[in-house]
Amino acid sequence: MKKKLSIAIDGPAAAGKSTVAKIVAEKLSYLYIDTGAMYRALTYKAIIGNLDIEDEEALLKSLMSTEIELVPAESGQLVYLDDQNVTHEIRTAAVTNSVSIVSKHPKVRKEMVKRQQKFAQNGGVVMDGRDIGTHVLPNAEVKVFLRASVEERALRRHLENQQKGFPSDLEKLKQEIALRDKIDSERETAPLKKAEDAIEIDTTSLTIPEVVDQIMALVDERIGQM
Ligand code: CDP
Ligand code: CDP
Repeated sequence: MKKKLSIAIDGPAAAGKSTVAKIVAEKLSYLYIDTGAMYRALTYKAIIGNLDIEDEEALLKSLMSTEIELVPAESGQLVYLDDQNVTHEIRTAAVTNSVSIVSKHPKVRKEMVKRQQKFAQNGGVVMDGRDIGTHVLPNAEVKVFLRASVEERALRRHLENQQKGFPSDLEKLKQEIALRDKIDSERETAPLKKAEDAIEIDTTSLTIPEVVDQIMALVDERIGQM
Protein backbone atom coordinates (compact mmCIF):
# COMPACT_ATOMS: atom_id res chain seq x y z
CA MET A 1 0.00 0.00 0.00
CA LYS A 2 1.21 3.51 -0.77
CA LYS A 3 2.34 5.52 2.24
CA LYS A 4 -0.11 8.26 3.18
CA LEU A 5 1.50 11.68 3.10
CA SER A 6 0.69 14.94 4.77
CA ILE A 7 0.36 17.78 2.29
CA ALA A 8 0.54 21.42 3.41
CA ILE A 9 -0.86 24.17 1.18
CA ASP A 10 -0.34 27.76 2.28
CA GLY A 11 -0.67 31.16 0.67
CA PRO A 12 -2.54 34.46 0.78
CA ALA A 13 -6.29 34.96 0.37
CA ALA A 14 -7.86 33.70 -2.89
CA ALA A 15 -4.63 32.18 -4.22
CA GLY A 16 -6.67 29.03 -4.94
CA LYS A 17 -5.67 26.99 -1.89
CA SER A 18 -9.00 25.44 -0.97
CA THR A 19 -10.02 24.78 -4.57
CA VAL A 20 -6.88 22.82 -5.43
CA ALA A 21 -6.53 21.24 -1.95
CA LYS A 22 -10.01 19.77 -2.31
CA ILE A 23 -9.23 18.28 -5.73
CA VAL A 24 -5.86 16.89 -4.65
CA ALA A 25 -7.47 15.30 -1.57
CA GLU A 26 -10.16 13.75 -3.73
CA LYS A 27 -7.64 12.33 -6.20
CA LEU A 28 -5.64 10.73 -3.38
CA SER A 29 -8.66 9.78 -1.22
CA TYR A 30 -7.16 11.89 1.58
CA LEU A 31 -8.91 14.01 4.16
CA TYR A 32 -9.18 17.70 3.25
CA ILE A 33 -8.89 20.17 6.12
CA ASP A 34 -9.61 23.86 5.64
CA THR A 35 -8.02 25.48 8.70
CA GLY A 36 -9.30 28.93 7.70
CA ALA A 37 -12.83 27.60 8.29
CA MET A 38 -11.92 26.98 11.94
CA TYR A 39 -10.78 30.58 12.48
CA ARG A 40 -13.87 31.75 10.61
CA ALA A 41 -16.15 29.61 12.83
CA LEU A 42 -14.69 31.16 15.99
CA THR A 43 -15.03 34.63 14.46
CA TYR A 44 -18.68 33.95 13.67
CA LYS A 45 -19.28 32.83 17.25
CA ALA A 46 -17.57 35.97 18.57
CA ILE A 47 -19.71 38.22 16.37
CA ILE A 48 -23.04 36.66 17.32
CA GLY A 49 -21.96 36.61 20.97
CA ASN A 50 -20.94 40.28 20.85
CA LEU A 51 -17.39 39.52 21.99
CA ASP A 52 -14.60 42.05 21.63
CA ILE A 53 -12.36 40.53 18.96
CA GLU A 54 -9.33 42.23 20.53
CA ASP A 55 -10.00 40.39 23.82
CA GLU A 56 -7.78 37.31 23.63
CA GLU A 57 -8.98 35.77 26.91
CA ALA A 58 -12.65 36.10 25.96
CA LEU A 59 -11.97 34.49 22.57
CA LEU A 60 -9.97 31.67 24.12
CA LYS A 61 -12.71 31.01 26.68
CA SER A 62 -15.25 30.89 23.89
CA LEU A 63 -13.06 28.54 21.83
CA MET A 64 -12.45 26.18 24.75
CA SER A 65 -16.20 25.65 25.13
CA THR A 66 -16.73 25.21 21.40
CA GLU A 67 -16.57 22.17 19.21
CA ILE A 68 -15.66 22.93 15.60
CA GLU A 69 -16.30 20.01 13.30
CA LEU A 70 -15.21 19.73 9.68
CA VAL A 71 -17.29 17.16 7.84
CA PRO A 72 -16.29 16.00 4.37
CA ALA A 73 -19.11 16.48 1.86
CA GLU A 74 -19.66 16.35 -1.88
CA SER A 75 -19.39 20.15 -2.02
CA GLY A 76 -16.05 20.01 -0.19
CA GLN A 77 -16.55 20.43 3.51
CA LEU A 78 -19.34 21.29 5.93
CA VAL A 79 -18.51 23.28 9.04
CA TYR A 80 -20.32 22.72 12.33
CA LEU A 81 -20.11 24.91 15.38
CA ASP A 82 -21.46 23.01 18.39
CA ASP A 83 -23.67 20.93 16.06
CA GLN A 84 -24.98 23.98 14.15
CA ASN A 85 -24.21 23.97 10.44
CA VAL A 86 -22.45 27.31 9.85
CA THR A 87 -20.93 26.49 6.44
CA HIS A 88 -22.52 29.52 4.78
CA GLU A 89 -22.55 31.89 7.76
CA ILE A 90 -18.74 31.81 8.09
CA ARG A 91 -18.29 33.22 4.56
CA THR A 92 -20.11 36.52 5.11
CA ALA A 93 -18.26 39.84 4.74
CA ALA A 94 -18.68 40.50 8.49
CA VAL A 95 -16.72 37.33 9.29
CA THR A 96 -14.17 37.86 6.50
CA ASN A 97 -13.40 41.36 7.68
CA SER A 98 -12.84 40.33 11.32
CA VAL A 99 -11.17 36.93 10.98
CA SER A 100 -7.59 38.22 10.71
CA ILE A 101 -7.94 40.06 14.02
CA VAL A 102 -9.29 36.96 15.77
CA SER A 103 -6.46 34.91 14.22
CA LYS A 104 -3.64 37.08 15.47
CA HIS A 105 -4.03 36.05 19.14
CA PRO A 106 -1.30 33.59 20.20
CA LYS A 107 -3.47 31.64 22.67
CA VAL A 108 -6.22 31.19 20.09
CA ARG A 109 -3.67 29.96 17.54
CA LYS A 110 -2.11 27.53 20.02
CA GLU A 111 -5.45 25.83 20.64
CA MET A 112 -6.34 25.80 16.93
CA VAL A 113 -2.96 24.27 16.01
CA LYS A 114 -3.44 21.56 18.66
CA ARG A 115 -6.80 20.63 17.13
CA GLN A 116 -5.44 20.73 13.58
CA GLN A 117 -2.50 18.48 14.45
CA LYS A 118 -4.94 16.00 15.98
CA PHE A 119 -6.96 15.91 12.74
CA ALA A 120 -3.73 15.12 10.86
CA GLN A 121 -2.22 12.61 13.25
CA ASN A 122 -2.67 9.60 10.97
CA GLY A 123 -1.40 11.29 7.78
CA GLY A 124 -3.37 11.12 4.55
CA VAL A 125 -4.36 14.79 4.79
CA VAL A 126 -4.32 17.84 2.59
CA MET A 127 -4.44 20.87 4.88
CA ASP A 128 -4.67 24.46 3.70
CA GLY A 129 -4.08 27.68 5.61
CA ARG A 130 -1.39 30.24 6.38
CA ASP A 131 0.98 28.45 8.79
CA ILE A 132 0.58 24.79 7.87
CA GLY A 133 4.05 24.23 6.41
CA THR A 134 5.74 26.44 9.02
CA HIS A 135 3.92 25.49 12.26
CA VAL A 136 1.03 23.04 12.05
CA LEU A 137 2.68 20.29 9.98
CA PRO A 138 6.40 21.20 9.90
CA ASN A 139 7.20 17.61 8.87
CA ALA A 140 4.69 17.46 5.99
CA GLU A 141 6.17 15.46 3.12
CA VAL A 142 4.87 17.92 0.54
CA LYS A 143 4.68 21.67 1.16
CA VAL A 144 3.29 24.09 -1.38
CA PHE A 145 3.04 27.87 -1.22
CA LEU A 146 0.56 29.34 -3.71
CA ARG A 147 0.87 32.91 -4.85
CA ALA A 148 -1.00 35.14 -7.33
CA SER A 149 -1.11 38.88 -7.90
CA VAL A 150 -3.57 40.76 -5.71
CA GLU A 151 -5.40 41.97 -8.88
CA GLU A 152 -5.92 38.38 -10.03
CA ARG A 153 -7.01 37.23 -6.59
CA ALA A 154 -9.54 40.04 -6.22
CA LEU A 155 -10.86 39.25 -9.70
CA ARG A 156 -11.29 35.58 -8.80
CA ARG A 157 -13.34 36.44 -5.70
CA HIS A 158 -15.32 38.98 -7.74
CA LEU A 159 -16.22 36.38 -10.39
CA GLU A 160 -17.10 33.91 -7.65
CA ASN A 161 -19.46 36.47 -6.04
CA GLN A 162 -21.06 37.26 -9.40
CA GLN A 163 -21.63 33.57 -10.11
CA LYS A 164 -23.36 33.21 -6.74
CA GLY A 165 -25.43 36.34 -7.40
CA PHE A 166 -23.84 38.25 -4.50
CA PRO A 167 -23.16 41.99 -4.74
CA SER A 168 -19.48 42.59 -5.41
CA ASP A 169 -17.17 45.58 -5.78
CA LEU A 170 -13.83 44.68 -7.35
CA GLU A 171 -11.86 47.63 -5.97
CA LYS A 172 -13.22 47.08 -2.45
CA LEU A 173 -12.38 43.37 -2.67
CA LYS A 174 -8.84 44.23 -3.67
CA GLN A 175 -8.45 46.52 -0.66
CA GLU A 176 -9.95 43.96 1.74
CA ILE A 177 -7.69 41.19 0.44
CA ALA A 178 -4.60 43.40 0.65
CA LEU A 179 -5.46 44.41 4.22
CA ARG A 180 -6.03 40.80 5.31
CA ASP A 181 -2.72 39.74 3.71
CA LYS A 182 -0.98 42.56 5.57
CA ILE A 183 -2.40 41.60 8.98
CA ASP A 184 -1.75 37.88 8.33
CA SER A 185 1.86 38.52 7.22
CA GLU A 186 2.76 41.00 9.92
CA ARG A 187 1.33 39.31 13.02
CA GLU A 188 3.89 38.09 15.54
CA THR A 189 2.64 34.55 15.96
CA ALA A 190 2.95 32.20 12.99
CA PRO A 191 2.61 34.83 10.26
CA LEU A 192 1.75 33.98 6.68
CA LYS A 193 5.13 32.96 5.28
CA LYS A 194 6.51 30.42 2.85
CA ALA A 195 8.23 27.55 4.68
CA GLU A 196 11.87 27.28 3.62
CA ASP A 197 11.27 23.84 2.15
CA ALA A 198 7.97 24.71 0.44
CA ILE A 199 7.66 24.76 -3.33
CA GLU A 200 6.27 28.06 -4.58
CA ILE A 201 3.73 28.08 -7.40
CA ASP A 202 2.61 31.37 -8.91
CA THR A 203 -0.95 30.65 -10.04
CA THR A 204 -1.64 34.10 -11.55
CA SER A 205 -1.85 32.78 -15.09
CA LEU A 206 -2.44 29.10 -14.36
CA THR A 207 -5.73 27.23 -14.56
CA ILE A 208 -6.94 25.11 -11.66
CA PRO A 209 -6.05 21.79 -13.43
CA GLU A 210 -2.55 23.13 -14.14
CA VAL A 211 -1.99 23.90 -10.46
CA VAL A 212 -3.42 20.50 -9.44
CA ASP A 213 -1.11 18.74 -11.94
CA GLN A 214 1.94 20.50 -10.52
CA ILE A 215 1.03 19.45 -6.98
CA MET A 216 0.27 15.86 -8.03
CA ALA A 217 3.69 15.72 -9.71
CA LEU A 218 5.31 16.80 -6.42
CA VAL A 219 3.33 14.12 -4.57
CA ASP A 220 4.39 11.41 -7.05
CA GLU A 221 8.00 12.53 -6.82
CA ARG A 222 7.90 12.38 -3.02
CA ILE A 223 6.25 8.96 -2.98
CA GLY A 224 8.95 7.76 -5.38
CA GLN A 225 11.63 8.82 -2.90
CA MET A 226 10.08 6.85 0.00
O1 CDP B 1 -10.28 31.46 1.86
P1 CDP B 1 -9.68 32.75 2.29
O2 CDP B 1 -8.35 32.96 1.66
O3 CDP B 1 -10.56 33.92 2.20
O4 CDP B 1 -9.31 32.66 3.83
P2 CDP B 1 -9.37 31.43 4.79
O5 CDP B 1 -8.41 30.37 4.41
O6 CDP B 1 -10.78 31.07 5.02
O7 CDP B 1 -8.77 32.09 6.12
C1 CDP B 1 -9.41 33.18 6.76
C2 CDP B 1 -8.44 33.85 7.70
O8 CDP B 1 -8.13 32.95 8.77
C3 CDP B 1 -7.08 34.26 7.13
O9 CDP B 1 -7.12 35.52 6.49
C4 CDP B 1 -6.23 34.28 8.38
O10 CDP B 1 -6.39 35.47 9.12
C5 CDP B 1 -6.81 33.14 9.22
N1 CDP B 1 -6.05 31.88 9.11
C6 CDP B 1 -4.91 31.76 9.86
O11 CDP B 1 -4.50 32.70 10.53
N2 CDP B 1 -4.22 30.59 9.86
C7 CDP B 1 -4.63 29.56 9.13
N3 CDP B 1 -3.95 28.40 9.18
C8 CDP B 1 -5.78 29.68 8.33
C9 CDP B 1 -6.46 30.87 8.32
O1 CDP C 1 -8.63 29.10 -0.62
P1 CDP C 1 -8.22 30.38 -1.27
O2 CDP C 1 -8.75 31.57 -0.57
O3 CDP C 1 -6.74 30.46 -1.46
O4 CDP C 1 -8.80 30.42 -2.74
P2 CDP C 1 -10.05 29.64 -3.38
O5 CDP C 1 -11.26 29.99 -2.63
O6 CDP C 1 -9.70 28.20 -3.53
O7 CDP C 1 -10.06 30.21 -4.87
C1 CDP C 1 -10.51 31.48 -5.20
C2 CDP C 1 -11.14 31.46 -6.57
O8 CDP C 1 -10.12 31.40 -7.59
C3 CDP C 1 -12.07 30.28 -6.85
O9 CDP C 1 -13.25 30.82 -7.43
C4 CDP C 1 -11.33 29.44 -7.86
O10 CDP C 1 -12.19 28.80 -8.76
C5 CDP C 1 -10.48 30.46 -8.59
N1 CDP C 1 -9.22 30.00 -9.24
C6 CDP C 1 -8.31 29.21 -8.58
O11 CDP C 1 -8.58 28.81 -7.46
N2 CDP C 1 -7.11 28.83 -9.16
C7 CDP C 1 -6.80 29.21 -10.40
N3 CDP C 1 -5.66 28.83 -10.93
C8 CDP C 1 -7.71 30.00 -11.10
C9 CDP C 1 -8.91 30.39 -10.48
